Amino acid sequence: MPNVELIGQSNVDTPYGAPSDSYKQLMISGVEAVFLARHGSGHTIAPHKVNYRANIWGFKTLGVERLLSLGAVGGINPLLLPGSIVIADQIIDMTTGRASTFYEIDEVYHVDFSEPFCPELRSAFIEAARAINLPVLTRGTYVCTNGPRFETRAEIKYYATVGADMVGMTAMPEAALAKEAEICYSTVATVTNLAAGISTEKLTTTEVIETVNKSSIALNALLLKTLSLIQAQRNCPCGQALKDAKI
Ligand code: HPA
Repeated sequence: MPNVELIGQSNVDTPYGAPSDSYKQLMISGVEAVFLARHGSGHTIAPHKVNYRANIWGFKTLGVERLLSLGAVGGINPLLLPGSIVIADQIIDMTTGRASTFYEIDEVYHVDFSEPFCPELRSAFIEAARAINLPVLTRGTYVCTNGPRFETRAEIKYYATVGADMVGMTAMPEAALAKEAEICYSTVATVTNLAAGISTEKLTTTEVIETVNKSSIALNALLLKTLSLIQAQRNCPCGQALKDAKI
């Protein structure tokens, strides 16, 4: 990103093991931020192997209150084409075997997950996109699959019938853990390819990487503008997610 200064980095120890990488402390046009590459700096950690609990715990330890999450998705809804940017508003979780809560022993919490993404962060992204004239889709349902393989045509047909607009592999349990950590969380999904069967072509990571690279200038501009619009104080329910959630 332009206007980014690396001001420090830290390795954080967590009760859940090591996060994906060191946390990079950044100054972005006067705004302090922390960056973490969820797949590791060399993209060596597959989506089902990411230690989502350690990653979110690390952000919490560093005092982070808001997470702006970026992810690549395959387009299921015909309105979504490679290069489309979606500010997701709902999730369907199809992952299996991922550690998906901080509360496994002694304490039981059921957090309200009706609205998986922070309304304030979503609005900031949408307002930022308008301000810089970047076309984005202002809502969309993200189905999270376990991967690391891409889906079958039948799976995508099924996900379409249950209301999914796009498919990715990382938003869960990341979003749910952020909720449990009372951290605001919002995903900007970049469509890197048409999902299986929507396209008749073979799905390739080459296409995914090429589209991410082509979209990076737009994503940088969107992030930069969004950061400038986020208020110091939170006025959303995310900071009280655990209230009335304990059994
Ligand atoms: N499926 C799942 N995850 C993805 C895809 C896809 O087609 N494209 C980018 N991430």
